[in-house]
Amino acid sequence: MNVENSSELSRRIEALKREKNAIILAHYYTTPEVQAVADFLGDSLALSVQAQQVDARIILFAGVHFMAETAKVLCPDKKVLIPCPEAGCSLAESCDAREFAAFKVKYPGHKVVSYVNTTVEVKALTDICCTSSNALKVVESLPADQPLIFGPDRNLGSYIQKLTGRQNMVLWDGACHVHEEFSLEKILQLKREHPGAKVVVHPECRAYIVEVADYVGSTAGILDYCGRSEAREFIVVTEAGILAEMRKRYPEKVFIPAPPDDETCACNNCKYMKMVTLENICSCLENEAPEIILDEEVRQAAERSIRNMIAIR
Ligand code: 13P
Ligand code: SF4
Repeated sequence: MNVENSSELSRRIEALKREKNAIILAHYYTTPEVQAVADFLGDSLALSVQAQQVDARIILFAGVHFMAETAKVLCPDKKVLIPCPEAGCSLAESCDAREFAAFKVKYPGHKVVSYVNTTVEVKALTDICCTSSNALKVVESLPADQPLIFGPDRNLGSYIQKLTGRQNMVLWDGACHVHEEFSLEKILQLKREHPGAKVVVHPECRAYIVEVADYVGSTAGILDYCGRSEAREFIVVTEAGILAEMRKRYPEKVFIPAPPDDETCACNNCKYMKMVTLENICSCLENEAPEIILDEEVRQAAERSIRNMIAIR
């Protein structure tokens, strides 16, 4: 898309937002032009919290499907729009609700902690949700002798298990295709080339990547750390969309994206997040569709697990 088209679409989107009393929430992994039309940009925890505080008739969620579902769970009376309903998440897809229900049956007496990167049906089977920002706090809020099921991200789960030393935690075997692709060898090479650089890592990465990190945290946590740190250079081991916000906030610092194993695949980009475009945002606002519609019983069960998370945020 050329710049003229893009600024024309942005103007149209701004007008539609005013006309329809709509706001746009966007995740840091969306493209820079999508981030630019957002009223609120955040990580998955901040976006869930923001969704319930907005005073608007329509929430348009510029992100992946589970994020828009979470907004609808928290705001059943608002119209929640998703510009590209096909924008899924490999992690959420790695945890089918029926299989998860069968897994639960195998572990009676276990409480279920689920990452928000899950479908609403999995959240409905969950006692308490977490995000990468608050997973440690959520797990620590449960008595040490309480056996747990943690899903669906095996990497985040084993990272929390390591931090807490908890043995009574069964992990679901799921993962994110973006975060599992980073190459340790290439990160170590970048470290040799930039000896003063700090390595910042999302906890969805594999354990051997997390081990070489100077900081491990959610997208919002990583952004804050880069601001606080005295370092000038950072090797960024998460989805590359976050670089736009990093460079905007800290123009004097240098951010080096960590490459995946196979550099021809561009797989440090989440293909789902990039499915959200100015075109589909504009037509979604014009048509007030596609909209997230949930089964009320499932929504209520999911709401409990999300509210339990927000209460201990
Ligand atoms: P955050 O919780 O950091 O927003 O991460 C969401 C996500 O999808 C990571 O891949
Ligand atoms: Fe899902 Fe991974 Fe994309 Fe995050 S980066 S939305 S976990 S596929």
